[in-house]
Amino acid sequence: MLSFNNVSFTYPGDIGPIMENLSFSVAQGDFISIIGASGCGKSTIFRLINGLEKPEKGSITIDDTPIEKLHNYSSFMPQKDLLFPWHSVRKNVCLPMELARIPKSERKSRCLDVLKNAGLTDYADKMPHELSGGMRQRVSFARTLLAGADMLLLDEPFSALDYLTKINMQEWLLQQWEHYNKSILFITHDVEEAIFLSKTIFVIRSVPFRSMDEISVPLPYPRRREDLATQPIIELREKLFESLRKERVK
Ligand SMILES: Nc1ncnc2c1ncn2[C@@H]1O[C@H](COP(=O)(O)OP(=O)(O)OP(=O)(O)O)[C@@H](O)[C@H]1O
Ligand SMILES: [Mg+2]
Repeated sequence: MLSFNNVSFTYPGDIGPIMENLSFSVAQGDFISIIGASGCGKSTIFRLINGLEKPEKGSITIDDTPIEKLHNYSSFMPQKDLLFPWHSVRKNVCLPMELARIPKSERKSRCLDVLKNAGLTDYADKMPHELSGGMRQRVSFARTLLAGADMLLLDEPFSALDYLTKINMQEWLLQQWEHYNKSILFITHDVEEAIFLSKTIFVIRSVPFRSMDEISVPLPYPRRREDLATQPIIELREKLFESLRKERVK
């Protein structure tokens, strides 16, 4: 579905590139996590996918069509929820559909469906400040989902949550992914989170990078948290920690 074809990118004013000749692809329905040291270029990959930055060389395509020719192929959810504080939960969730001029009756039914799945039916008329951090992230995810794109770009969406809320949100996210059949690219600093969620983990090992290691997680879905304590997964976790630590001390 999504392909980076020999993409190079340098921020204006920087002496060197962040990525050079980078190629990778993501299939429809994949759950991919991207991990790597702070500042290595993870969010830059998202900025290139959603067109905020343009490759200096190479191309980014979806089903062989360059993204410049496409609309609404990805929706982005940042680390901070960015809900409009003056709008209710319902209005926040519906905004992308209003912008896309989706008819009112359809907006209403899609909104109700997504809020129900997010366990937020009773909170539709509350304001964001009346919700907990985990609830706000669920609203933010619901809004990202209702923007209608097949590919969701989630940039460290759970990093500000406490541990228990975070693991509940991970389980919830997997249910949503299975239910809505979207492709998810998920940036995280948390190795365990990447393992629990993803089919494949992309690891950025250096800057500039020319490739990412692609590690398949040897666990079936639905995932169970106790699987994280099995020997192959513990070894995988240690290996990933080690590669991130090496990168950090360079
Ligand atoms: N708009 C920008 N203009 C110039 N340089 C930028 C810009 N955004 C990011 N950078 C630089 O590009 C590099 C990669 O940034 P990026 O945000 O992609 O890193 P990251 O891997 O997402 O880091 P973190 O894990 O801390 O979020 C950093 O050195 C950063 O300072
Ligand atoms: Mg980032």
